Amino acid sequence: MDKKVKVLLIGAAFSADLHMDGYSRCTDIAEIVAICDKDLSRVDSLAERYGLKNFKAYDDYKKAIDEVDCDVVDICLPNFLHHDVAIEAFKKGRHVISEKPLATTVEDAEEMVEAARKAGKKLYYAEDWLFAPALCKALSIIEEGAIGKPLFIRARECHSGSHSPYAQTIKYCGGGCMVHLGIHPVGFMLALKQGRWTELVAMTSGGLENNFLHKGMEGEDWSACIIKFDDETSALLEANYITKGGMEDVIDIYGTEGCMHIDLTFSSAIKCYSIPGLSYTVEKAEITTGWSKPAVDEKFNLGYVSEIRHFMECCLKNEDAKIGLRGVDGLEALKVINLIYKSAKEGIKIKNENLGG
Ligand SMILES: NC(=O)c1ccc[n+]([C@@H]2O[C@H](COP(=O)([O-])OP(=O)(O)OC[C@H]3O[C@@H](n4cnc5c(N)ncnc54)[C@H](O)[C@@H]3O)[C@@H](O)[C@H]2O)c1
Repeated sequence: MDKKVKVLLIGAAFSADLHMDGYSRCTDIAEIVAICDKDLSRVDSLAERYGLKNFKAYDDYKKAIDEVDCDVVDICLPNFLHHDVAIEAFKKGRHVISEKPLATTVEDAEEMVEAARKAGKKLYYAEDWLFAPALCKALSIIEEGAIGKPLFIRARECHSGSHSPYAQTIKYCGGGCMVHLGIHPVGFMLALKQGRWTELVAMTSGGLENNFLHKGMEGEDWSACIIKFDDETSALLEANYITKGGMEDVIDIYGTEGCMHIDLTFSSAIKCYSIPGLSYTVEKAEITTGWSKPAVDEKFNLGYVSEIRHFMECCLKNEDAKIGLRGVDGLEALKVINLIYKSAKEGIKIKNENLGG
């Protein structure tokens, strides 16, 4: 293919590394033309890790958006910046990829969706779970009827706490573990059920001194939501920051004719015992000594690699992403997260007014 999608990557730390791995595996259709981070040393080390040479480095995102000739701006910045950067990019007539959550407030997320519409450009929402190969396989097993009609799904993402300083303050991130981690199971379920939830009820640890462990964090460090759908099925969605031993991404599906248990992070084919320890085993594991299950191609298995390829293919064709990966899906996921917070705070069950619930 002659044409390659020109990408301006903004943010050069944790999630940017996840995306860069994806770009490094689709050089046939995509090229990074510039990287921006207010800390230029992160730009250098990211580029070095992936052997990237011909690109421009910026420390000011406005300047980068203004100067760089690109097709898409990929936002790997703290949550509170997604909105402002996306608006700038749409003004310049670029497509936008936004990391999750789409924004810190529903109002900001709505403005992003509207700005994309006005600019005639696409807003892509990076929900990697929808590309995790094990989840894709599970969905095909459901489709062939092998477990009958799925009745109940339990899904969670949990680990010991965010590495990002911005995750401590609600103004910068929009909440606690539910908005950071729970947004994956929420986004996954909404995509699976085409957003047709009818009612939900939730609890959280509440934040600060009410938290189990993270007493200095404004957002909650434990949260759970029971949600029902209009096909009479239900799900239990959980997120917490009190899980030691590495990130858990676990989905259990119970159907009329069978069940399925999916483990995205601890399903390695390798079981290793090490006295000195490994350099890395799985995301957020505190120690690597003793028995471990070192991840094999973690970024691929969590969906990032196929997610980036999908967005690049969409950019080439000027098409919307698949269901669950469009700006409107990110907006809906954020709306549900905010209703989860409302339910937990007010101790109430919430019905989906849009479905006449
Ligand atoms: N999909 C996933 O599984 C996943 C995983 C981790 C993070 N994320 C999301 O990715 C986003 C970024 O998170 P992260 O973990 O990479 O954060 P991070 O704190 O590791 O990195 C953020 C980077 O943004 C830079 N930055 C901050 N303000 C800036 C500004 N004004 N201009 C330019 N650069 C600036 C910082 O210097 C830093 O390098 C968040 O929205 C987070 O929710 C998604």
